[in-house]
Amino acid sequence: MNNLYLTADWTILEIREIIPGHFFVSLSPSGGGGVPEYSPGQFFQISVHGIGEAPVSVSSSPTRPGTLEMCIRKVGRLTAAIAGLRAGNRVGIRGPFGNGFPLERMRGNDLVLLAGGLGIVPLRSLVNYAVDLPGEFGQVTVLYGAGTDAQLLFIDDLLGLSRDINIQLIVQEITGAGPYEERFGDRTGFVTDLIPGSVTRPTRTFAAMCGPPVFYRYAVSALLAEGLSKRLVYMSLERRMECGIGKCGHCGVGYRYTCVDGPIFNYWDAFNMPELIEMREGEPWIS
Ligand SMILES: Cc1cc2nc3c(=O)[nH]c(=O)nc-3n(C[C@H](O)[C@H](O)[C@H](O)COP(=O)(O)OP(=O)(O)OC[C@H]3O[C@@H](n4cnc5c(N)ncnc54)[C@H](O)[C@@H]3O)c2cc1C
Ligand code: FES
Repeated sequence: MNNLYLTADWTILEIREIIPGHFFVSLSPSGGGGVPEYSPGQFFQISVHGIGEAPVSVSSSPTRPGTLEMCIRKVGRLTAAIAGLRAGNRVGIRGPFGNGFPLERMRGNDLVLLAGGLGIVPLRSLVNYAVDLPGEFGQVTVLYGAGTDAQLLFIDDLLGLSRDINIQLIVQEITGAGPYEERFGDRTGFVTDLIPGSVTRPTRTFAAMCGPPVFYRYAVSALLAEGLSKRLVYMSLERRMECGIGKCGHCGVGYRYTCVDGPIFNYWDAFNMPELIEMREGEPWIS
């Protein structure tokens, strides 16, 4: 029987700091055998021997087989150790885990994908999946915001797709560190400012979003104001995890484990478990 706690040995093919403190990592299984089947929205557990293990979202698309891509923010012991690795070094991988986005339900519909900051990492997987399967989805719109222009991730990747999909970017502050101003003018604000007018077929549009808790509270409210159906709103919600397979109880919220029942939840899940998005009484979309 397959032991879900056992890690497999994978090799880093490429690792580079794409913006300060954020590392793009491309990997493949050391012994060959190929990347296991996975879906956008799922995550893998990555470990460095003697340091620890953490869940990290998949950022590549299964439509581009052979390698697995992630983007890791250096915040602590394990992520700092990963940041210090080089191509050719080995890490442990278990997974994929979690439910992923409801791709079968999404097919044939428009997609509005909203990301705040590091939230673009799992959504990039879904964006590339939709772009690689032309005709299977309707209009794809990506609304992406960050604190500053220097904090936007995968910007060249995303702009390279702008012939196939509608990409709108916004930052709260322009620092001049990147080519943002010459490309987008001086538009500043929050990603939720991009929502009005972004949905053309509200009953045929799925929303998928990932960002900090406060982002969901305002984004969902703005999407519902556009006429989007509640049953078509999905969010990627992360919790501290240990096992990743529904055994240890670390990621429990109410009666659900976010590692197996999530990390992708729909509107009604979040509505019934408001602690999932740290929602407070009287804030948008519960009122
Ligand atoms: C499903 C899922 C997907 C994730 N995807 C990514 C990803 O694509 N890229 C990425 O960089 N990170 C991602 N994370 C977060 C990542 O797992 C943590 O940043 C990691 O565990 C930090 O490990 P560390 O040993 O470096 O830091 P630690 O020393 O364990 O912690 C450092 C700091 O990060 C905080 N922290 C640790 N884990 C979390 C967490 N899960 N949520 C919020 N704060 C946390 C701690 O409270 C502390 O302040 C994901 C988490 C989950 C649950
Ligand atoms: S992380 Fe162990 S139950 Fe979810």
